[in-house]
Amino acid sequence: MKEIKLPVHLALIMDGNGRWATRRLRPRAFGHRAGVQNMFRICGHAFHLGVQIVTVFALSAENLTRPQEELDELYGLFRTFFDKKKDKLLELGARINVIGDLSALPADVQVSMRALMEETAQRTASLLNICVNYGARQDVLQAVNRAVALGRFVDDASFHALLLTAGVPDPDLIIRTGNEMRLSNFLLYQAAYAELYFSPKMWPEFSRRDLEKALVNYASRSRRFGGLRGKEQA
Ligand code: IPE
Ligand code: IPE
Ligand code: MG
Repeated sequence: MKEIKLPVHLALIMDGNGRWATRRLRPRAFGHRAGVQNMFRICGHAFHLGVQIVTVFALSAENLTRPQEELDELYGLFRTFFDKKKDKLLELGARINVIGDLSALPADVQVSMRALMEETAQRTASLLNICVNYGARQDVLQAVNRAVALGRFVDDASFHALLLTAGVPDPDLIIRTGNEMRLSNFLLYQAAYAELYFSPKMWPEFSRRDLEKALVNYASRSRRFGGLRGKEQA
């Protein structure tokens, strides 16, 4: 793995928790718990391999339309892993940045998320962005509205600076599990030239080996950004 070209920024759409659980005749919440465990496994492995930035889609803005019971389960998991068991997140060694409209979350969850962001703010080796109540269109619109309020025209760089991912380079590779081939309102502006990789595996069963396969596949791709390949360009 060491010698292949890795993405600097890897983004993960962790989909399929509910189906994984339902197939095992277990409640959806069981899948979400297994999904969190796998997030630690896969993010830890990505950092171990040398990926510097990982962004995970944990909860979309549209997911807030799910039954309150499921949302309460998810908030309970946030409560556990940002507070009581925060060591698991701290052990990843990364700066933790929670991205999204946190105001819709229970107040105590917001407090523990903010505390963890502060606690890890000085870490520079790696970054873990956790998208919670995040929607890419909502983010683009708040950025446009801020530009309008400031009376400014924007270019690509100044627009990036108004997005929730300000200062973070665009994702090089987006992996989606759960056998769905769509972005579901994730990083739409930033994904302009991201490589996309879709796995039929449900998120809780996406293994370290599956991650390595995706990274090997990424390394084999020719990223042209609209130009020609290196040799043809010369
Ligand atoms: C992804 O798994 C996690 C969240 C959206 C919170 P899902 O809950 O969407 O699982 P499926 O797609 O229904 O299997
Ligand atoms: C995308 O999964 C959001 C997350 C993984 C957090 P969804 O399950 O919400 O996406 P759709 O509804 O299948 O497009
Ligand atoms: Mg889903």
